[in-house]
Amino acid sequence: MASSGAECPSIHARLVGKRVPPALESLEDALRAGVDETRLASMARELPGGDGALALAAMLELKSRGRIEESLWIGDVEHARRRVTSPAFRPTPFRAGVAYELSRFAYVRREGAELVMESPESHWNVRLLSSRATTWLGGVDAAAESVEAPGTCFLAEAGMLTESDAGSAEGETARSAWEFHDRLFHWRSRRDGHSGTLGGTYRFAEAGDPAPLPERREQGEAVPLARLSGRPGADLFAVMDARRSVRPENETVSLSRLGEILYHAARETETAVDGTTRRMTYPTPGGLGALDVYVAAERCDGLTPGMYRYDASAHVLQRVHGDSEYVDALLDAAGRGQGRETRPAMLLTLAIPLARVAWKYEGIAYSLVLKTAGCLLQNIALAATALDVASCNLGTGNNIHFARATRLPDHVVSPVAEITLG
Ligand SMILES: Cc1cc2nc3c(=O)[nH]c(=O)nc-3n(C[C@H](O)[C@H](O)[C@H](O)COP(=O)(O)O)c2cc1C
Repeated sequence: MASSGAECPSIHARLVGKRVPPALESLEDALRAGVDETRLASMARELPGGDGALALAAMLELKSRGRIEESLWIGDVEHARRRVTSPAFRPTPFRAGVAYELSRFAYVRREGAELVMESPESHWNVRLLSSRATTWLGGVDAAAESVEAPGTCFLAEAGMLTESDAGSAEGETARSAWEFHDRLFHWRSRRDGHSGTLGGTYRFAEAGDPAPLPERREQGEAVPLARLSGRPGADLFAVMDARRSVRPENETVSLSRLGEILYHAARETETAVDGTTRRMTYPTPGGLGALDVYVAAERCDGLTPGMYRYDASAHVLQRVHGDSEYVDALLDAAGRGQGRETRPAMLLTLAIPLARVAWKYEGIAYSLVLKTAGCLLQNIALAATALDVASCNLGTGNNIHFARATRLPDHVVSPVAEITLG
């Protein structure tokens, strides 16, 4: 490492939180004041009897629990701070003379006034405290003995940088399958290895009841729907075996079949007395994650083509007055996405005000919504199979077209999954 005089780099460790293990009590004052790592280690070694080894082990334990914050100082400026985020942490040694580059999974975001750096491949949370620290993100050819090598080392040890020729490393094939956004979502919506909070924390509860439903732009008479299939119940296992993705051309679906499918697959069966939670024919997180089903109808006997929202408690369709050009665009894309010449008879889009789920669940709200959509998609496919109606999932939808077709901003009511009928 090149360093001299005012540019001299040092790493200081500081204790975060309250109690310390007994073995560390004699070092606590130094730790609280922030002490040079090397000095701390030698202080621990100098403890009488066997306490030195114990203190070092205790310090490693504290570090793995995120209780020790390490700062990189160059001269008298603190440039970056890091803290371990998972007990699974293992030290990543810095290899002098090796070129490093930013990991393609690492990212920087703002938290309050600070820049926080994280990566699904790192068990550290790094705070960048100076503009100089941000110049280390590009990595450095450490072989060149750059004056910025201390910064590179600090980030590389925290797993934010990877060796430039790591492409051939074991496991790279599995890593390359992951795109940045998928890996981030997968990491942050599951437990451990990051500093995020997960679960039912009710963090918006103080602000009142779960987010009220957005103002609906729906007009006209509600369209009543058929309630029961009127058939003897189909055998569940036979229906599961018979389900197929079917993409017919020019087929029409009757309004009564649509009603029966929605009745069995998507209706509300119970509302809590206080109106906050709902029971549906599919499970929802905390009873808060019921999805809205929007029906873009093209060929439905008994129904004027257009966009409708299924009211799952009244079991009726409500006409949604958005921009019809975009209802067409959604249907066009659905036909194309399923390799058809014609549009499907109807496209069902599952959408939700995410704020309702986030009212209770922190860190996993969107992940829960996608899982719930999977439950409802399968319900719809099975009900359609039982009623001899063709159904097929769609890999993706268009947020902008949906927002224009419903006049609901996609961050307020977010479309998350699509399935066609007919
Ligand atoms: C999440 C998901 C997305 C899908 N997206 C599409 C799609 O965009 N277009 C399409 O034609 N089929 C789509 N499918 C249907 C699959 O291609 C189909 O399920 C698969 O070929 C197996 O056939 P089967 O459903 O008849 O068993 C999707 C299925 C799933 C589960």
